[in-house]
Amino acid sequence: MRLLQKLPSIRAKLGSVIVFAVGMTILLVYLTLGLGFRVFDVGDHWWELLLAGAIGAGIALLIARWVARGMTQPLRDMAQAAHRMETGDYAQRVHTDSVDEVGQLAHAFNRMSAQLESLEQLRRDLVANVSHELKTPISALRAHLENLLDGVERPDPETLQVMLAQSERLGRLVDQLLDLSRLESGDVPLEPEPVELAPLVSQVLSEIEMARPDRHVDLQDRVPADLPPVLADRERVHQVLFNLLDNAVRFTPSGGRVTVTASRHNGSVDVEVSDTGPGIAPEHLPRLFERFYRVDEARSRDDGGTGIGLAIARSVVEAHGGRIWAESQPGEGATFTFELPAAAEGPPTRGSR
Ligand SMILES: Nc1ncnc2c1ncn2[C@@H]1O[C@H](COP(=O)(O)OP(=O)(O)O)[C@@H](O)[C@H]1O
Ligand SMILES: [Mg+2]
Repeated sequence: MRLLQKLPSIRAKLGSVIVFAVGMTILLVYLTLGLGFRVFDVGDHWWELLLAGAIGAGIALLIARWVARGMTQPLRDMAQAAHRMETGDYAQRVHTDSVDEVGQLAHAFNRMSAQLESLEQLRRDLVANVSHELKTPISALRAHLENLLDGVERPDPETLQVMLAQSERLGRLVDQLLDLSRLESGDVPLEPEPVELAPLVSQVLSEIEMARPDRHVDLQDRVPADLPPVLADRERVHQVLFNLLDNAVRFTPSGGRVTVTASRHNGSVDVEVSDTGPGIAPEHLPRLFERFYRVDEARSRDDGGTGIGLAIARSVVEAHGGRIWAESQPGEGATFTFELPAAAEGPPTRGSR
């Protein structure tokens, strides 16, 4: 075995096995039929035996060479593809029809390279998106500063206010990106505890009202008081509710209504935030929760949106083992729903409410 491992190619290994097998056959024929049973006279026929062996071995070697070539082609292709992948070219695939171990290896290799390719694509998109998002507020700030230096603009409170808003946006963007990346890598420990949703929802609603006093939107709290608590990290649920309500209020025109409801579904609790805004066209629905995906980029930016709120909401909900989704009839508002596990019901700790 050791000896075989030293040979440089599969073809050489097959060849050596064939030469060994033919040699053994001739030796056995020589010993048994020639010397043992005296079927022929060894002295007269040894060269015919050798010749037959040599021809047999030659033909077998040719066939082995041909078979080994076909068998090992995918292996050579994979070696080459892996080599190109080292230089960042992930589009490499290996073609084979074989279903043996080599074929299975080639399929596994193809799956791996497809996965690497899409990861690489994601990474590139992310870097491009982040740079683009950072560039917008930075260029705006720079333009104002240059104008101030050139004396084109005066450092009056309005200009400074605009600049402050841009730098706040930059800070928010970086904070949210860091938060999202920590959530995705799983190194923010969640601290799940039984959380009563009704008080949390009314707290978030009053925060929203304070944060956007200019919006005349009717906020409706329809969370039933007898809802079982959810098992979740309170701060994170707060964050999800805030992101959903902030969107709903921002996208709903004055005079509209935003409603929060919640209901129990065996083992989990669904929370629904629905609005009477413009709604979302069906083709956008599946992509809303991707970072930086917005239906109307300019509008979302103008009112301070970073495009990461829903991506964070999804990461948080999924980290709790729940789901989040959006439904909408364009023109009739949108409904965002998330599901969280209900806390296991122990003996009642408080009197009935
Ligand atoms: N209630 C809603 N009504 C209509 N569109 C919405 C609503 N909520 C979210 N969207 C769409 O989803 C996009 C992504 O939302 P989000 O991730 O919170 O980013 P941002 O709020 O910063 O724009 C928004 O830009 C908007 O196009
Ligand atoms: Mg948002």
